Amino acid sequence: MVSDRTILSVTIRFQQTMTSHQTKDYHSNWDDKKIVQHFLSSRNKEEDLYPSEKYFLDKFLTKEMRVLDYGCAAGGFVDILSKRYQLPEINYWGVDISPQMIRVAESAHPQSHFELGLSKIQSAGERFDLIYSFGTFHMTFDWRVILKNLYLISRQYLIFDVRLTKTGKTVEDISQSYQKLNFFNEELDTGDVPYIILNEEEFYTYLQSVIEENDEVLTHGYEHSVSHSVTSLYQKIDMMSICVIKKTNSLNG
Ligand SMILES: C[S@@+](CC[C@H](N)C(=O)[O-])C[C@H]1O[C@@H](n2cnc3c(N)ncnc32)[C@H](O)[C@@H]1O
Repeated sequence: MVSDRTILSVTIRFQQTMTSHQTKDYHSNWDDKKIVQHFLSSRNKEEDLYPSEKYFLDKFLTKEMRVLDYGCAAGGFVDILSKRYQLPEINYWGVDISPQMIRVAESAHPQSHFELGLSKIQSAGERFDLIYSFGTFHMTFDWRVILKNLYLISRQYLIFDVRLTKTGKTVEDISQSYQKLNFFNEELDTGDVPYIILNEEEFYTYLQSVIEENDEVLTHGYEHSVSHSVTSLYQKIDMMSICVIKKTNSLNG
């Protein structure tokens, strides 16, 4: 007779197999020396900002705000925000999943605050006037929980970008949709990360389930071909920036 214990372990293994395309360790690819070096020497000047990134920051970011940058890489946005919006370095918090990125960010910007993951920030009860996340949600399977958590610790603005398809289905499988991290130098031998493309209706339905009814949602974007370094089901997708403006805040403080 098969014991309960045996049945339990079979079930767990089955679940792991079902999600293996999502759990494959791609996070450590961001620790690659060449990738860290790339972010240390780029994305730190005003001219490195994409128009879609400036769009909402120009409207809403002011110098007295407390700002959180989620997926901050080597912290180059400390320089961008202090030049373009006169944000004091001390008002900037950066969070990333890569220990190497956080290490170089801390040493380049000692006045700012950097954390590996959100948990310390959450347990300390920190809140931010404006939170943004660029180039990150479409590269992590955790984007739903990240969106929820960022929404909770935002006092007013939450800005992020996503990749959407109006008619296609959501693709969240790294074997079907991924980006080579050598997008800045095709000769480099680097790992892959997911390239998540969401069905537009599904995405907005999820967003509505996270935010409050009174909140305002602004969107800005355009159709674009995916980069050469991307392999996916779709060639043309909508690159969308989303700005949630909270109108009520149960966690104010
Ligand atoms: C394409 S880079 C974008 C960096 C920066 N935001 C920019 O726009 O230049 C993506 C960044 O997100 C980080 N990242 C990926 N998955 C993450 C996750 N689940 N949580 C936090 N950071 C993540 C990576 O380590 C990397 O630094």
